[in-house]
Amino acid sequence: MNSAIPVITIDGPSASGKGTVAQLVATELGFHYLDSGALYRIVALATQQQNIAWSNAQAIAECSKSLAITFINDQVFLNNKEVTSDIRTEAMGKGASQVAVHEPLRKVLIEIQHAFCKAPGLVADGRDMGTVIFPDAPLKVFLTASTEVRATRRYQQLINKKQAANYDGILQDLLERDARDQNRASAPLIMANDAVLLETDNLTISQAVNYVLDKYQRFI
Ligand code: CDP
Repeated sequence: MNSAIPVITIDGPSASGKGTVAQLVATELGFHYLDSGALYRIVALATQQQNIAWSNAQAIAECSKSLAITFINDQVFLNNKEVTSDIRTEAMGKGASQVAVHEPLRKVLIEIQHAFCKAPGLVADGRDMGTVIFPDAPLKVFLTASTEVRATRRYQQLINKKQAANYDGILQDLLERDARDQNRASAPLIMANDAVLLETDNLTISQAVNYVLDKYQRFI
């Protein structure tokens, strides 16, 4: 990894809006974009297809070593098959958070994530971008929102995609996923000491994007 390449990390809990904000910041700066959550979702899908239990740490890590994962613009491919919408379901979100607790898998995915760090720069979104994967990033943002706002956003996302959505179920899933992500031993969801906190309950997407861009301008 080249430490001269600027990296902006955007970490935070589920449905906080970090993916949307990270993508827009990357577009605005002409930077590459890493959606690290997609990697865990792909592993959840691939292991499900191969009947590997999401509790089986060694088998999951072995399986992940053999996967051909490709991102082309907004599309995601697993072993040359497009899986863009297959990995976006609530079931794969849940599966992702179950496979993500396993340290051996997290180790396999480190190199893939570092490979995204290319000139002219990278915006990386996830749970451990600022704490584990890019600890030297010059700008780290911890983007969050209240549980109710996040559940409403996720509900709206599913409705927009014409997928089944139940607000109470979504809220329950978010709380479970937050607890699992925050309490795991390996790379838990936690704000890095040197991150800036961005609370988005009362912010529009463009206000959040401008906040990050403004912070970044101060670093360069
Ligand atoms: O879209 P949403 O924010 O709900 O989730 P995501 O970013 O796609 O991530 C799905 C799951 O992958 C999370 O709940 C985490 O458990 C896991 N994950 C992780 O452990 N580390 C990352 N850097 C990114 C995601």
